[in-house]
Amino acid sequence: MADFLSAYSIQYWLESAPQGYLEGTEFGHLPGEEEPKLLQGDPLIHEQALRTTVQLVVGERCALSASSGLINAAPDEASKRFLATQTLDEARHVEVFTQRLYDLGVQKGELEDVIRRYANPNLVKFAEVLLEKVDKKDFVAGVVGQNIVLEGMAFNVFELMHAANQNLNPKFAHTLSGTIADERRHVGFGENRIGSLIRENPHRKGDIERMQKEMSYWMLATFADSFRSAPAREEMARARAQAGPAAAPSSWHGVDLGKADPEEMEHVLADTVLADFKKRLGRIGLEYQSPARP
Ligand SMILES: [Fe+2]
Ligand SMILES: [Fe+2]
Repeated sequence: MADFLSAYSIQYWLESAPQGYLEGTEFGHLPGEEEPKLLQGDPLIHEQALRTTVQLVVGERCALSASSGLINAAPDEASKRFLATQTLDEARHVEVFTQRLYDLGVQKGELEDVIRRYANPNLVKFAEVLLEKVDKKDFVAGVVGQNIVLEGMAFNVFELMHAANQNLNPKFAHTLSGTIADERRHVGFGENRIGSLIRENPHRKGDIERMQKEMSYWMLATFADSFRSAPAREEMARARAQAGPAAAPSSWHGVDLGKADPEEMEHVLADTVLADFKKRLGRIGLEYQSPARP
């Protein structure tokens, strides 16, 4: 328990995040960094940037709701304090991605309309499955849904986006790298805290495994929409053509992001996230359930 306390304490959080990798940042990036001209000049690329960022805001709003809601459902004081730090992390993520929408030209008064217009309905369903568990104060299911499924997905999506934007958009890449560091801490908490609770409550396994299967399906449906749509494919081609060799993206899990077609990217992302779920669920004594493929 001593290790658990120190790695997930508020003191550790202060030293590693606000006084560590976030020190000197402004809305998650270096002061003065701006969105590249490319994003402002081409209407299709601009719209895709809005659409992508809206999904990040929707996911992070769900994480904010879940982490704050789970505080009062937590059975022990150390978990409540960790979830309080996570709540602030998630609120920060909502803020930095909302700020990106403003930086891309969204006016304050139209924010909610823009979010409603672009929010992927499958991602909204994914969030609803989790928030239903949180509303029932179901701590074990809530932590698995949030800290293993939602954050396992977020972590890999952010890593892929980071690799794709590292040279193209350093501002966005910096925002993502701080977020990735936070998500790594959240995923670690899920695994460390929940294993013993699953062992103490084996009768909960079936129910939680069904939730994972359902959330995984909505996640894959969200990925399918993002990579298979005609505007997404067109945007990827145009962005590559305009960015030039200096902005070439790196590779991710062995896939060259500068050359891969959208199907290859969808597959590597889906396979990486699902393999991650399987590994993490196995460690806490749950059996991964394969979702239907949309
Ligand atoms: Fe987050
Ligand atoms: Fe998180």
